[in-house]
Amino acid sequence: MQLPQPRGPVSAALADALAGHPRDIPLIEPSDDEDLQLVLHIGYELHYRGFDGVDDAWEWQPSRIALHQAAERCFEAELRRLVPMPDPVPPAEVPRALGAVLAADDGPPLSKYLAGRATLEQYREFVKHRSIYHQREADPHTWAIPRLGGRAKAALVEVQADEYGGGRVERMHAELFRGTMRELGLDDTYGAYLDAAPAATLAVNNLMSLFGLHRRLLGAILGHLAIYEMTSSLPNRRYGNGLRRLGFGPAATRFYDEHVEADAVHEQIAAHDLCGSYCADRPEQSSLVLFGAACALALDARFAGHLLTRWAAGESSLRAQADAIGRPLVGALGA
Ligand SMILES: [Fe+2]
Ligand SMILES: [Fe+2]
Repeated sequence: MQLPQPRGPVSAALADALAGHPRDIPLIEPSDDEDLQLVLHIGYELHYRGFDGVDDAWEWQPSRIALHQAAERCFEAELRRLVPMPDPVPPAEVPRALGAVLAADDGPPLSKYLAGRATLEQYREFVKHRSIYHQREADPHTWAIPRLGGRAKAALVEVQADEYGGGRVERMHAELFRGTMRELGLDDTYGAYLDAAPAATLAVNNLMSLFGLHRRLLGAILGHLAIYEMTSSLPNRRYGNGLRRLGFGPAATRFYDEHVEADAVHEQIAAHDLCGSYCADRPEQSSLVLFGAACALALDARFAGHLLTRWAAGESSLRAQADAIGRPLVGALGA
């Protein structure tokens, strides 16, 4: 993947530095959300697959880490303003409390819109946004595996093994999603639509990396996974129905169809065996589990609101993207 186009002074300074040899870089805090979320995305990507032409040693370069942590402090402070820390609950109550977090969610009805009304072009936009997550589906939650033991670890491995296709590449969820992208005539290269993804999309992904990469936030990444599994079956049925309405067949809908089945099972494993067992060992962590779940829903709601608001105004929900030689692409609208 190429380094993305900068969106402000800090992402510009970071991208410029990463193109050269690892060296000390000045500490500056991003001033707006596009710059902040891109700085976070670039920093996290160094822990996943990195960028073409960027020295691997940048991953742990101390001043680069300091810059990233300054951005993380902004992001985490924003999350804690957006989502009050839930009260703790007894371990046996954790699955029910996750259900209550879900019941309180009043996010915009994006999956209903895609099922019933979205145009093909809007559907393709949706898939471009979601490609940022689905092309590395399951990876942010995998950071939690070595931090767990016992039943919670076994439960997480069971879910993740399914996400990774049980060892068969053609069944990996990330690969199934690439199939959907190709059916829709989209570029299935890793990170192809990063420049098109606005802050609301990057924030959804940065949340998982923040929770996954900090052991102090282990409970939050578990709650995040549980709520994702609990909110998956029905929307994925709708996403598949939306594609069928637009004339697509099983090759395009397989990713969504797979989730209708798999996540009905995963939600039980994640809520009870994973979060329930974890909190039985660490009762003081139940608040953080519920916080992770609530943050996932809050940022997904903001993402859904962004798409539906733009579409209602007759606009693209994507950022304007330049083509390979830097010309603006016809039809792309500014963010
Ligand atoms: Fe999946
Ligand atoms: Fe799942």
